[in-house]
Amino acid sequence: MKKKLLVATGGGDCPGLNAVIRGIVKAAKRTGEWDVYGSIEAFNGVIKDPPEIIKLNKRVGGIHVKGGTIIKTTNRGNPFSFPIQGENGKIKKKDISGDLVKKIQNLGFEAMINIGGDGSQKISQKLFKLGLNIIGVPKTIDNDLSATDLTFGFTTAVQIATDSFDKLVTTAESHHRVMIMEVMGRDAGWIALHTAIAGGAEICLIPEIPYQLDKVLNRIKKRYNKGKGFVNIVIAEGAKLTNGQIVGTHAKDGDENIKLGGVGNYLRALLEEKNCPAQVRTTVLGHTQRGGTPVAFDRILASAMGVKAFNMVVNKEYGKMVAFKNNQLKTVTLEEATRSYNFVDKNHYLIDTARALGISFGD
Ligand code: F6P
Repeated sequence: MKKKLLVATGGGDCPGLNAVIRGIVKAAKRTGEWDVYGSIEAFNGVIKDPPEIIKLNKRVGGIHVKGGTIIKTTNRGNPFSFPIQGENGKIKKKDISGDLVKKIQNLGFEAMINIGGDGSQKISQKLFKLGLNIIGVPKTIDNDLSATDLTFGFTTAVQIATDSFDKLVTTAESHHRVMIMEVMGRDAGWIALHTAIAGGAEICLIPEIPYQLDKVLNRIKKRYNKGKGFVNIVIAEGAKLTNGQIVGTHAKDGDENIKLGGVGNYLRALLEEKNCPAQVRTTVLGHTQRGGTPVAFDRILASAMGVKAFNMVVNKEYGKMVAFKNNQLKTVTLEEATRSYNFVDKNHYLIDTARALGISFGD
């Protein structure tokens, strides 16, 4: 009888998830000893009665090229705070983690690989403590996990943002406009910083360096005064004024996070109030940064992480996560992996690079 391995993808999707799944399944197949299954929509597939779990062995042909995840995902399936409808119709949060672990074991799974970001890996760590043989694979376009130098999906998001930026430059130039492009990244400015350098922005605003409106305005005016009649700004969704707050809304859909978004239009309004020397327009890239086919680098990194995760299963390296460090794949304990975030350091070499290229951070 073959051993059974369970795979799930949790949290927001990200280009490269399918390449990880394919890497796991192909590596497992070669051993001839494992069958790989996917839990549909993170842990929800296991929690459902009957469970929604599919055998993946014959489903991975060519999927590394596809965006999204063939086993679906959700950010509403935390087993430690699971939404359950009470008798009065009201939603209550319940800890069903103990039952979940028993169910996975009773279904005959030897181990599980959880592909997800910070939130998902915190769940992996807690499930490991409850006795589940679990291994983590990091994913996020935000690149904000401290244990790994890079996460797959990030490079694709930067490429998508850079392609959009290039398009905005030509229209900014034609109209002598100030173009603001808002990118994702939550509390980390990595996507914005990389895109600003790759695209050649005049201004880059990131959460790690709170900005001053006057500094932004001065940079714009300086450029118009020089006769260079257009300005392109990249702003990270988590950017804030030195004396301001992040711009977002409280989600109503059961997600615990504040939904970031809107800071690009917020900045446009501020600039217009201050008589900005040109028309200002905002483009919010939003979820386009997470969609579509992964770039080659992400396909490769994701495939390698999938293969590594399967090897970790074989070696019973449970309670650990795959990490990409100094151009090598390493393992790190889930505890260490979820201890801190990877934010842009003000002394990072790319901050120096950007400043040397004339990019203002509004500070
Ligand atoms: O963490 C990835 C990310 O795309 C962030 O950059 C963004 O703030 C968030 O997820 C959006 O989440 P949702 O898909 O739930 O709107």
